[in-house]
Amino acid sequence: MKILVTGGTGYIGSHVVVDLLNEGHEVVIVDNLINSKVTVLDKITEITGKTPIFYYENLTNFEALQKIFDEHQFDSVIHFAGLKSVSESVERPLLYYCENITGTINLLKCMQDKGVEKIIFSSSATVYGDSDIKERLETMPTGQNIANPYGRTKYMIEEILKDVCISDPNFSAVALRYFNPVGNHSSGLIGEEPNGIPNNLMPYIMKVASGELQELSIYGNDYDTPDGTCRRDFVHVSDLAKGHLAALKALETPGFKAYNLGTGTPTSVLEMVAAFEKISGKPLPHRFVARRPGDLAEIWANPSLAKKELGWQSELTIEDALKDTLTFLSNHQ
Ligand code: UFG
Repeated sequence: MKILVTGGTGYIGSHVVVDLLNEGHEVVIVDNLINSKVTVLDKITEITGKTPIFYYENLTNFEALQKIFDEHQFDSVIHFAGLKSVSESVERPLLYYCENITGTINLLKCMQDKGVEKIIFSSSATVYGDSDIKERLETMPTGQNIANPYGRTKYMIEEILKDVCISDPNFSAVALRYFNPVGNHSSGLIGEEPNGIPNNLMPYIMKVASGELQELSIYGNDYDTPDGTCRRDFVHVSDLAKGHLAALKALETPGFKAYNLGTGTPTSVLEMVAAFEKISGKPLPHRFVARRPGDLAEIWANPSLAKKELGWQSELTIEDALKDTLTFLSNHQ
């Protein structure tokens, strides 16, 4: 299949591109490199022996996107491109609505113009908002109590996809709701490399481990959880990538579908720090600070629908993820 991957040089996108190329698909990437490096393309080639076609472009540039669709007849689209900093989205909501929503609408318009009717969307557990039930199921309501504009863009895009599926009975859209992706390809060649100070836990831990940042601030140890720190469902990015390959098959049936991609098991922030220290054999400097506004105490996936309908389940452990992280770190120092 010929697949357009938006955001294909990013953290999750690059792992999916590797799997697509290894499976023999033809890949075209469009990415504006806002949160990734062009050198990722060389790493993808090093891993797979194949080079995807690359366009340095922003999805908000409709004419440029049309040109890409003029040059290729795609079978399907996997849509990762978007801004993803929770804190930045609170400060600059219009930027987030413009980039994420307008970018997606432009993409869908180009797809419609060319009769491309299959899309996988990179969604997030954030669409569930806060709830008393910590284990999230796809049947639970979405869109309520979402704490920030970034999360709302994910929810809104899912709603847009539902409407497009209603308007076109041949259109199929799969939203994959990621929990907390960690780790990287076992080669250590590609991984998460956010520009600037990271917001997320693992990239921050990596910068402390490499000595670039002094210590990890753990946001709150007074939550109503077993050790007082927040608990999340950390899923290996290589497992996540496989979920996309499985979802490609689900695109054969028209309509909108959403699947949780998580392990089903929560791990606390403190447990992650302890696991990292054990695997690296070195202490990870950290201290407890105030809670981060908008953080949920606990959230994890019920991944049974993905298992039942996609035949997907996570296989790698947190220890696998942390070992791969250390390989990545040693390659990048
Ligand atoms: N944390 C720290 N210190 C840090 C960074 C994070 O203690 O420096 C803690 C957070 O407070 C949280 C946990 O580590 O308890 C995980 O935080 P992340 O920022 O890594 O991830 P979140 O769970 O907040 O967010 C993730 C994705 C979002 C998505 C959300 C959905 O990054 O895109 O899950 O639940 F919206």
